[in-house]
Amino acid sequence: MLVGSLDLTHLAIQSLGRARGRTSSPLMLLPVSHRVNERGHLEIGGCDLIELAQRHGTPLYVYDEATVRSRCQEFMAAMGDRGEVLYSAKAFASPGFLRIVASEGLGLDVVSAGELHIALRAGYPTDRIYFLGNNKSEEDVAAAIAAGATLVLDGFHDIELLRRVVPAGHRQRCLVRVSPGVDAQTHTFIATGQLDSKFGFSIESGAARAAVEQALALDSIQLEGLHSHIGSQIYDLGGHLQALEIMLDLLAQLKGELGYEPRKLGAGGGLGIAYTEQDDPPTPAEFVGTLLAALAGGASARSLPQPALVVEPGRAIAGPAGVALYTVGSIKDIPGVRRYVAVDGGMGDNIRPKLYDALYQPLLAHDPEGAATETVSIAGKYCESTDILVSDARLPSVRTGDILVIPAAGAYCLAMASQYNGLPRPAVVIVSGGRDRLIRRRETYDDLLAAEIL
Ligand SMILES: Cc1ncc(COP(=O)(O)O)c(C=O)c1O
Repeated sequence: MLVGSLDLTHLAIQSLGRARGRTSSPLMLLPVSHRVNERGHLEIGGCDLIELAQRHGTPLYVYDEATVRSRCQEFMAAMGDRGEVLYSAKAFASPGFLRIVASEGLGLDVVSAGELHIALRAGYPTDRIYFLGNNKSEEDVAAAIAAGATLVLDGFHDIELLRRVVPAGHRQRCLVRVSPGVDAQTHTFIATGQLDSKFGFSIESGAARAAVEQALALDSIQLEGLHSHIGSQIYDLGGHLQALEIMLDLLAQLKGELGYEPRKLGAGGGLGIAYTEQDDPPTPAEFVGTLLAALAGGASARSLPQPALVVEPGRAIAGPAGVALYTVGSIKDIPGVRRYVAVDGGMGDNIRPKLYDALYQPLLAHDPEGAATETVSIAGKYCESTDILVSDARLPSVRTGDILVIPAAGAYCLAMASQYNGLPRPAVVIVSGGRDRLIRRRETYDDLLAAEIL
Protein backbone atom coordinates (compact mmCIF):
# COMPACT_ATOMS: atom_id res chain seq x y z
CA MET A 1 0.00 0.00 0.00
CA LEU A 2 1.41 3.37 -1.01
CA VAL A 3 0.59 6.36 1.13
CA GLY A 4 2.31 9.56 0.09
CA SER A 5 5.88 8.61 -0.61
CA LEU A 6 5.94 5.66 1.78
CA ASP A 7 5.49 1.96 1.18
CA LEU A 8 3.51 0.97 4.28
CA THR A 9 3.22 -2.69 3.40
CA HIS A 10 6.97 -2.99 3.62
CA LEU A 11 7.10 -1.13 6.92
CA ALA A 12 4.21 -3.14 8.29
CA ILE A 13 5.90 -6.40 7.48
CA GLN A 14 9.08 -5.12 9.06
CA SER A 15 7.37 -4.05 12.25
CA LEU A 16 5.09 -7.05 12.55
CA GLY A 17 7.78 -9.56 11.83
CA ARG A 18 10.57 -8.20 13.98
CA ALA A 19 12.52 -11.04 15.48
CA ARG A 20 14.88 -9.97 18.24
CA GLY A 21 16.19 -13.37 19.10
CA ARG A 22 15.87 -12.69 22.82
CA THR A 23 15.36 -15.36 25.45
CA SER A 24 11.81 -15.31 26.60
CA SER A 25 11.24 -15.13 30.35
CA PRO A 26 8.71 -13.29 32.50
CA LEU A 27 11.69 -11.59 34.19
CA MET A 28 12.16 -9.52 31.03
CA LEU A 29 8.91 -7.75 31.88
CA LEU A 30 10.46 -6.34 35.05
CA PRO A 31 12.19 -2.96 35.50
CA VAL A 32 15.79 -2.77 34.29
CA SER A 33 17.35 -2.92 37.76
CA HIS A 34 15.71 -6.22 38.74
CA ARG A 35 17.74 -9.16 39.95
CA VAL A 36 17.21 -12.30 41.94
CA ASN A 37 19.19 -11.94 45.19
CA GLU A 38 21.06 -14.48 47.32
CA ARG A 39 17.84 -15.41 49.11
CA GLY A 40 16.21 -16.16 45.77
CA HIS A 41 13.92 -13.13 46.21
CA LEU A 42 13.14 -10.63 43.54
CA GLU A 43 14.90 -7.33 43.99
CA ILE A 44 14.26 -4.03 42.18
CA GLY A 45 16.45 -0.97 42.59
CA GLY A 46 18.48 -2.95 45.13
CA CYS A 47 15.39 -3.47 47.33
CA ASP A 48 14.06 -6.91 48.23
CA LEU A 49 10.38 -6.91 47.24
CA ILE A 50 9.37 -9.05 50.20
CA GLU A 51 10.99 -6.57 52.59
CA LEU A 52 9.26 -3.70 50.81
CA ALA A 53 5.93 -5.47 51.21
CA GLN A 54 6.62 -6.00 54.92
CA ARG A 55 7.69 -2.40 55.47
CA HIS A 56 4.92 -0.64 53.51
CA GLY A 57 2.14 -3.22 53.40
CA THR A 58 0.30 -4.35 50.28
CA PRO A 59 -1.07 -3.61 47.75
CA LEU A 60 2.06 -1.61 47.02
CA TYR A 61 3.22 -0.02 43.77
CA VAL A 62 6.99 0.04 43.33
CA TYR A 63 8.61 2.25 40.68
CA ASP A 64 12.19 1.77 39.60
CA GLU A 65 13.93 5.12 39.17
CA ALA A 66 16.54 3.63 36.81
CA THR A 67 13.83 2.43 34.43
CA VAL A 68 12.00 5.77 34.44
CA ARG A 69 15.24 7.57 33.68
CA SER A 70 16.42 5.14 31.02
CA ARG A 71 13.09 5.23 29.17
CA CYS A 72 13.08 9.06 29.28
CA GLN A 73 16.70 9.15 28.13
CA GLU A 74 16.04 6.79 25.25
CA PHE A 75 13.20 9.00 23.97
CA MET A 76 15.21 12.19 24.45
CA ALA A 77 18.37 10.82 22.79
CA ALA A 78 16.41 9.58 19.78
CA MET A 79 14.68 12.95 19.42
CA GLY A 80 17.79 15.09 19.86
CA ASP A 81 17.16 18.63 18.70
CA ARG A 82 14.58 17.62 16.12
CA GLY A 83 11.58 17.94 18.40
CA GLU A 84 10.12 17.57 21.88
CA VAL A 85 9.23 14.60 24.05
CA LEU A 86 6.35 15.16 26.47
CA TYR A 87 5.42 12.69 29.18
CA SER A 88 1.67 12.06 29.16
CA ALA A 89 0.68 12.64 32.78
CA LYS A 90 -2.48 10.60 32.48
CA ALA A 91 -0.42 7.40 32.65
CA PHE A 92 0.72 8.16 36.23
CA ALA A 93 1.04 11.60 37.74
CA SER A 94 2.37 11.45 41.28
CA PRO A 95 4.52 14.57 41.96
CA GLY A 96 7.44 12.40 43.11
CA PHE A 97 7.34 10.62 39.76
CA LEU A 98 6.85 13.80 37.71
CA ARG A 99 9.93 15.37 39.29
CA ILE A 100 12.08 12.56 37.93
CA VAL A 101 10.59 12.95 34.46
CA ALA A 102 11.07 16.74 34.59
CA SER A 103 14.70 16.33 35.61
CA GLU A 104 15.27 14.31 32.41
CA GLY A 105 14.19 17.33 30.37
CA LEU A 106 10.86 16.07 29.06
CA GLY A 107 7.83 18.27 28.61
CA LEU A 108 4.43 17.27 29.98
CA ASP A 109 0.99 16.65 28.52
CA VAL A 110 -1.92 17.32 30.90
CA VAL A 111 -5.63 17.07 30.15
CA SER A 112 -7.33 18.94 32.97
CA ALA A 113 -6.86 21.77 35.43
CA GLY A 114 -6.48 19.01 38.04
CA GLU A 115 -3.53 17.37 36.27
CA LEU A 116 -2.07 20.82 35.73
CA HIS A 117 -2.43 21.51 39.46
CA ILE A 118 -0.51 18.33 40.27
CA ALA A 119 2.20 19.31 37.77
CA LEU A 120 2.50 22.78 39.26
CA ARG A 121 2.77 21.36 42.77
CA ALA A 122 5.52 19.09 41.45
CA GLY A 123 7.31 22.21 40.22
CA TYR A 124 7.11 21.12 36.59
CA PRO A 125 8.59 23.80 34.31
CA THR A 126 5.44 25.41 32.92
CA ASP A 127 6.88 26.39 29.55
CA ARG A 128 7.19 22.66 28.84
CA ILE A 129 3.53 21.88 29.64
CA TYR A 130 0.89 21.24 26.96
CA PHE A 131 -2.78 21.29 27.93
CA LEU A 132 -4.92 18.86 25.91
CA GLY A 133 -8.40 17.43 26.23
CA ASN A 134 -11.79 17.68 24.58
CA ASN A 135 -14.56 19.76 26.16
CA LYS A 136 -12.28 22.06 28.10
CA SER A 137 -13.99 24.26 30.62
CA GLU A 138 -13.43 27.97 31.02
CA GLU A 139 -11.57 27.08 34.21
CA ASP A 140 -9.30 24.69 32.25
CA VAL A 141 -8.44 27.31 29.65
CA ALA A 142 -7.88 30.04 32.23
CA ALA A 143 -5.64 27.72 34.25
CA ALA A 144 -3.57 26.83 31.18
CA ILE A 145 -3.14 30.49 30.27
CA ALA A 146 -2.26 31.50 33.82
CA ALA A 147 0.32 28.71 34.03
CA GLY A 148 1.93 29.64 30.71
CA ALA A 149 1.17 26.24 29.15
CA THR A 150 0.61 25.60 25.45
CA LEU A 151 -3.04 24.89 24.70
CA VAL A 152 -4.01 22.15 22.26
CA LEU A 153 -7.29 23.23 20.65
CA ASP A 154 -9.61 20.25 20.31
CA GLY A 155 -12.78 21.84 18.91
CA PHE A 156 -14.42 25.13 17.97
CA HIS A 157 -15.64 25.32 21.56
CA ASP A 158 -12.01 25.83 22.64
CA ILE A 159 -11.55 28.68 20.16
CA GLU A 160 -14.71 30.32 21.52
CA LEU A 161 -13.45 29.95 25.08
CA LEU A 162 -10.14 31.51 24.12
CA ARG A 163 -11.89 34.50 22.56
CA ARG A 164 -13.56 35.08 25.93
CA VAL A 165 -10.77 34.18 28.33
CA VAL A 166 -7.45 35.40 26.87
CA PRO A 167 -6.44 38.62 28.64
CA ALA A 168 -5.99 41.67 26.41
CA GLY A 169 -2.57 41.78 24.82
CA HIS A 170 -1.79 38.13 25.56
CA ARG A 171 -0.91 35.78 22.70
CA GLN A 172 -1.66 32.21 23.71
CA ARG A 173 0.58 29.46 22.28
CA CYS A 174 -1.67 26.84 20.69
CA LEU A 175 -1.68 23.70 18.58
CA VAL A 176 -4.70 22.52 16.62
CA ARG A 177 -5.56 18.88 17.23
CA VAL A 178 -6.55 17.07 14.07
CA SER A 179 -8.14 13.64 13.84
CA PRO A 180 -6.35 12.05 10.92
CA GLY A 181 -8.95 9.30 10.57
CA VAL A 182 -6.63 6.36 11.13
CA ASP A 183 -7.89 3.25 12.86
CA ALA A 184 -4.76 2.30 14.77
CA GLN A 185 -6.04 -0.95 16.22
CA THR A 186 -6.99 -2.78 13.06
CA HIS A 187 -3.48 -3.03 11.68
CA THR A 188 -5.01 -2.67 8.23
CA PHE A 189 -3.87 0.90 7.77
CA ILE A 190 -7.20 1.88 6.34
CA ALA A 191 -8.06 5.51 6.83
CA THR A 192 -11.64 5.71 8.03
CA GLY A 193 -13.58 7.53 5.33
CA GLN A 194 -16.15 8.69 7.83
CA LEU A 195 -14.31 9.84 10.91
CA ASP A 196 -15.97 8.92 14.18
CA SER A 197 -14.02 10.34 17.10
CA LYS A 198 -14.84 12.78 19.85
CA PHE A 199 -11.31 14.21 19.62
CA GLY A 200 -9.91 16.83 17.31
CA PHE A 201 -10.90 18.58 14.11
CA SER A 202 -11.62 16.27 11.20
CA ILE A 203 -9.79 16.82 7.95
CA GLU A 204 -12.35 15.48 5.56
CA SER A 205 -15.19 17.68 6.86
CA GLY A 206 -12.99 20.76 6.38
CA ALA A 207 -13.05 21.45 10.14
CA ALA A 208 -9.26 21.21 10.50
CA ARG A 209 -8.63 23.79 7.79
CA ALA A 210 -11.35 26.07 9.21
CA ALA A 211 -9.87 25.81 12.72
CA VAL A 212 -6.42 26.77 11.45
CA GLU A 213 -7.90 29.66 9.50
CA GLN A 214 -9.80 30.91 12.55
CA ALA A 215 -6.79 30.53 14.83
CA LEU A 216 -4.55 32.42 12.39
CA ALA A 217 -7.08 35.25 12.26
CA LEU A 218 -7.06 35.77 16.02
CA ASP A 219 -4.48 38.10 17.57
CA SER A 220 -4.89 36.25 20.85
CA ILE A 221 -3.58 32.98 19.36
CA GLN A 222 -0.02 32.16 18.40
CA LEU A 223 -0.50 29.02 16.34
CA GLU A 224 2.58 26.85 16.81
CA GLY A 225 1.40 23.88 14.80
CA LEU A 226 -0.80 20.83 14.54
CA HIS A 227 -1.30 17.80 16.76
CA SER A 228 -2.69 14.29 16.42
CA HIS A 229 -2.95 11.12 18.49
CA ILE A 230 -4.24 7.85 17.08
CA GLY A 231 -4.52 5.54 20.08
CA SER A 232 -2.69 3.67 22.78
CA GLN A 233 -0.81 0.38 23.36
CA ILE A 234 0.16 0.23 19.70
CA TYR A 235 2.86 -2.20 18.53
CA ASP A 236 2.64 -1.59 14.83
CA LEU A 237 3.97 1.77 13.76
CA GLY A 238 2.16 1.61 10.42
CA GLY A 239 -0.80 3.50 11.87
CA HIS A 240 1.45 6.31 13.12
CA LEU A 241 3.15 6.47 9.74
CA GLN A 242 -0.11 6.67 7.92
CA ALA A 243 -1.32 9.43 10.25
CA LEU A 244 1.91 11.34 9.65
CA GLU A 245 1.45 11.14 5.90
CA ILE A 246 -2.11 12.41 6.22
CA MET A 247 -0.92 15.27 8.44
CA LEU A 248 1.79 16.15 5.93
CA ASP A 249 -0.80 16.24 3.15
CA LEU A 250 -2.77 18.64 5.33
CA LEU A 251 0.33 20.76 5.88
CA ALA A 252 0.82 20.97 2.11
CA GLN A 253 -2.82 22.02 1.73
CA LEU A 254 -2.50 24.66 4.47
CA LYS A 255 0.66 26.04 2.93
CA GLY A 256 -0.96 26.23 -0.50
CA GLU A 257 -4.29 27.66 0.61
CA LEU A 258 -3.44 29.72 3.70
CA GLY A 259 0.30 30.20 3.36
CA TYR A 260 0.65 28.65 6.79
CA GLU A 261 3.76 26.62 7.75
CA PRO A 262 3.57 25.14 11.26
CA ARG A 263 6.69 25.01 13.42
CA LYS A 264 5.54 21.90 15.29
CA LEU A 265 3.81 18.67 14.38
CA GLY A 266 2.50 16.48 17.18
CA ALA A 267 2.28 12.74 16.56
CA GLY A 268 0.82 11.87 19.99
CA GLY A 269 1.75 8.94 22.18
CA GLY A 270 0.61 5.37 21.92
CA LEU A 271 3.76 3.28 21.92
CA GLY A 272 2.86 -0.07 23.44
CA ILE A 273 4.80 -2.00 26.08
CA ALA A 274 5.25 -5.70 26.85
CA TYR A 275 2.76 -7.08 29.38
CA THR A 276 3.50 -10.72 28.64
CA GLU A 277 6.45 -12.64 27.25
CA GLN A 278 4.72 -12.83 23.88
CA ASP A 279 4.66 -9.05 23.43
CA ASP A 280 7.42 -7.48 21.37
CA PRO A 281 6.80 -3.73 21.05
CA PRO A 282 9.11 -1.32 19.22
CA THR A 283 11.59 0.46 21.46
CA PRO A 284 11.32 4.20 22.17
CA ALA A 285 14.31 4.76 19.85
CA GLU A 286 12.59 2.82 17.06
CA PHE A 287 9.36 4.75 17.63
CA VAL A 288 10.98 8.18 17.50
CA GLY A 289 13.49 7.24 14.80
CA THR A 290 10.79 5.85 12.51
CA LEU A 291 8.64 8.96 12.90
CA LEU A 292 11.56 11.35 12.39
CA ALA A 293 12.67 9.57 9.23
CA ALA A 294 9.13 9.57 7.84
CA LEU A 295 8.71 13.24 8.73
CA ALA A 296 11.96 14.24 7.02
CA GLY A 297 11.15 12.19 3.91
CA GLY A 298 7.51 13.28 3.76
CA ALA A 299 8.29 16.97 4.24
CA SER A 300 10.98 17.00 1.60
CA ALA A 301 8.76 15.06 -0.85
CA ARG A 302 6.21 17.86 -0.51
CA SER A 303 8.76 20.68 -0.50
CA LEU A 304 7.74 21.65 3.02
CA PRO A 305 10.06 22.87 5.75
CA GLN A 306 10.42 20.10 8.37
CA PRO A 307 8.45 20.99 11.51
CA ALA A 308 9.71 19.92 14.93
CA LEU A 309 8.20 16.58 15.93
CA VAL A 310 6.30 16.42 19.25
CA VAL A 311 5.59 13.01 20.79
CA GLU A 312 3.82 12.36 24.08
CA PRO A 313 4.39 8.84 25.42
CA GLY A 314 2.79 7.91 28.72
CA ARG A 315 2.63 4.15 29.03
CA ALA A 316 6.04 3.61 27.41
CA ILE A 317 7.69 5.61 30.21
CA ALA A 318 5.68 4.76 33.32
CA GLY A 319 4.48 1.27 32.41
CA PRO A 320 7.67 -0.81 32.46
CA ALA A 321 8.98 1.08 35.49
CA GLY A 322 6.25 -0.04 37.90
CA VAL A 323 5.29 -3.32 39.52
CA ALA A 324 2.35 -4.04 41.81
CA LEU A 325 2.83 -6.18 44.92
CA TYR A 326 -0.09 -8.03 46.50
CA THR A 327 -0.36 -10.49 49.38
CA VAL A 328 -2.10 -13.76 48.65
CA GLY A 329 -5.02 -14.43 50.97
CA SER A 330 -7.73 -17.01 50.43
CA ILE A 331 -7.22 -19.83 47.96
CA LYS A 332 -10.31 -21.53 46.67
CA ASP A 333 -10.31 -24.80 44.77
CA ILE A 334 -13.19 -25.85 42.60
CA PRO A 335 -12.08 -29.36 41.66
CA GLY A 336 -11.92 -29.88 37.94
CA VAL A 337 -12.85 -26.25 37.30
CA ARG A 338 -10.44 -23.66 38.66
CA ARG A 339 -8.22 -22.57 41.52
CA TYR A 340 -8.83 -19.00 42.64
CA VAL A 341 -5.92 -17.25 44.34
CA ALA A 342 -7.24 -14.06 45.93
CA VAL A 343 -5.06 -11.02 46.57
CA ASP A 344 -5.60 -7.90 48.68
CA GLY A 345 -6.15 -5.52 45.73
CA GLY A 346 -7.79 -5.86 42.35
CA MET A 347 -10.02 -3.76 40.13
CA GLY A 348 -9.88 -0.76 42.48
CA ASP A 349 -6.14 -0.31 41.87
CA ASN A 350 -5.98 -1.93 38.43
CA ILE A 351 -9.08 -1.72 36.26
CA ARG A 352 -7.22 -2.58 33.05
CA PRO A 353 -8.13 -6.28 32.90
CA LYS A 354 -11.82 -5.34 33.14
CA LEU A 355 -11.62 -2.24 30.96
CA TYR A 356 -9.44 -3.54 28.15
CA ASP A 357 -9.20 -7.31 28.66
CA ALA A 358 -5.58 -6.55 29.51
CA LEU A 359 -3.27 -9.49 30.18
CA TYR A 360 -0.57 -9.73 32.84
CA GLN A 361 2.02 -12.32 33.72
CA PRO A 362 2.47 -12.49 37.50
CA LEU A 363 5.47 -13.81 39.43
CA LEU A 364 6.11 -14.85 43.01
CA ALA A 365 8.51 -12.51 44.84
CA HIS A 366 10.14 -15.39 46.76
CA ASP A 367 10.50 -17.65 43.73
CA PRO A 368 10.50 -15.59 40.54
CA GLU A 369 12.29 -18.23 38.48
CA GLY A 370 10.49 -21.28 39.83
CA ALA A 371 9.03 -23.71 37.31
CA ALA A 372 5.30 -23.26 36.85
CA THR A 373 3.42 -26.16 38.37
CA GLU A 374 -0.13 -24.87 38.52
CA THR A 375 -2.66 -22.82 36.63
CA VAL A 376 -4.57 -20.36 38.81
CA SER A 377 -6.76 -17.32 38.40
CA ILE A 378 -5.73 -14.27 40.41
CA ALA A 379 -8.86 -12.78 41.93
CA GLY A 380 -9.14 -9.38 43.55
CA LYS A 381 -10.99 -8.62 46.79
CA TYR A 382 -13.73 -6.42 45.33
CA CYS A 383 -17.35 -7.50 45.47
CA GLU A 384 -17.64 -8.13 41.74
CA SER A 385 -17.36 -11.54 40.17
CA THR A 386 -15.56 -9.90 37.26
CA ASP A 387 -12.78 -8.73 39.58
CA ILE A 388 -10.14 -11.08 38.19
CA LEU A 389 -6.66 -9.61 37.67
CA VAL A 390 -5.24 -12.56 35.72
CA SER A 391 -7.04 -15.59 34.34
CA ASP A 392 -5.15 -18.87 34.02
CA ALA A 393 -1.77 -17.69 35.28
CA ARG A 394 0.99 -20.29 35.26
CA LEU A 395 2.88 -20.16 38.58
CA PRO A 396 4.88 -22.31 40.98
CA SER A 397 2.79 -23.57 43.90
CA VAL A 398 1.14 -20.53 45.55
CA ARG A 399 0.43 -20.28 49.27
CA THR A 400 -1.43 -17.84 51.48
CA GLY A 401 0.98 -15.10 52.54
CA ASP A 402 3.03 -15.19 49.34
CA ILE A 403 3.83 -11.86 47.70
CA LEU A 404 2.57 -11.77 44.14
CA VAL A 405 4.28 -9.41 41.70
CA ILE A 406 2.53 -7.98 38.64
CA PRO A 407 5.10 -6.53 36.20
CA ALA A 408 4.42 -3.64 33.82
CA ALA A 409 1.92 -2.08 36.23
CA GLY A 410 3.27 1.46 36.13
CA ALA A 411 0.78 3.04 33.72
CA TYR A 412 -3.00 3.43 33.86
CA CYS A 413 -3.33 1.36 37.04
CA LEU A 414 -3.08 3.78 39.98
CA ALA A 415 -3.94 6.60 37.57
CA MET A 416 -7.40 5.04 37.24
CA ALA A 417 -7.65 3.76 40.83
CA SER A 418 -10.82 4.20 42.85
CA GLN A 419 -11.96 3.75 46.43
CA TYR A 420 -14.63 1.30 45.35
CA ASN A 421 -15.92 -0.91 48.13
CA GLY A 422 -14.27 1.42 50.65
CA LEU A 423 -10.78 0.14 49.94
CA PRO A 424 -8.16 2.86 50.43
CA ARG A 425 -5.79 3.30 47.49
CA PRO A 426 -2.30 1.77 47.77
CA ALA A 427 1.00 3.38 48.68
CA VAL A 428 3.73 4.06 46.11
CA VAL A 429 7.49 3.82 46.59
CA ILE A 430 10.34 4.71 44.27
CA VAL A 431 13.38 2.50 44.57
CA SER A 432 16.97 3.22 43.63
CA GLY A 433 20.41 2.17 44.85
CA GLY A 434 19.04 -0.02 47.62
CA ARG A 435 16.81 2.74 49.05
CA ASP A 436 13.06 3.08 48.90
CA ARG A 437 11.32 6.42 49.03
CA LEU A 438 7.61 6.66 49.83
CA ILE A 439 6.09 9.10 47.33
CA ARG A 440 2.47 8.40 48.13
CA ARG A 441 1.27 7.06 51.45
CA ARG A 442 -1.41 4.42 51.69
CA GLU A 443 -4.80 6.05 52.07
CA THR A 444 -6.52 5.72 55.43
CA TYR A 445 -10.15 5.03 56.23
CA ASP A 446 -10.46 8.75 57.05
CA ASP A 447 -9.31 9.52 53.49
CA LEU A 448 -12.45 7.72 52.35
CA LEU A 449 -14.39 10.46 54.10
CA ALA A 450 -12.15 13.39 53.13
CA ALA A 451 -14.71 15.06 50.85
CA GLU A 452 -17.83 14.02 52.77
CA ILE A 453 -19.85 16.54 54.75
CA LEU A 454 -20.42 14.66 58.00
C1 LIG B 1 -3.82 12.81 23.39
C2 LIG B 1 -3.04 11.74 24.05
N1 LIG B 1 -1.70 11.85 24.07
C3 LIG B 1 -0.94 10.91 24.67
C4 LIG B 1 -1.51 9.80 25.27
C5 LIG B 1 -0.62 8.79 25.91
O1 LIG B 1 -0.74 7.58 25.30
P1 LIG B 1 0.24 6.39 25.72
O2 LIG B 1 0.20 6.28 27.20
O3 LIG B 1 -0.34 5.21 25.04
O4 LIG B 1 1.58 6.75 25.21
C6 LIG B 1 -2.90 9.65 25.25
C7 LIG B 1 -3.52 8.46 25.85
O5 LIG B 1 -4.54 7.99 25.51
C8 LIG B 1 -3.69 10.66 24.63
O6 LIG B 1 -5.02 10.57 24.62
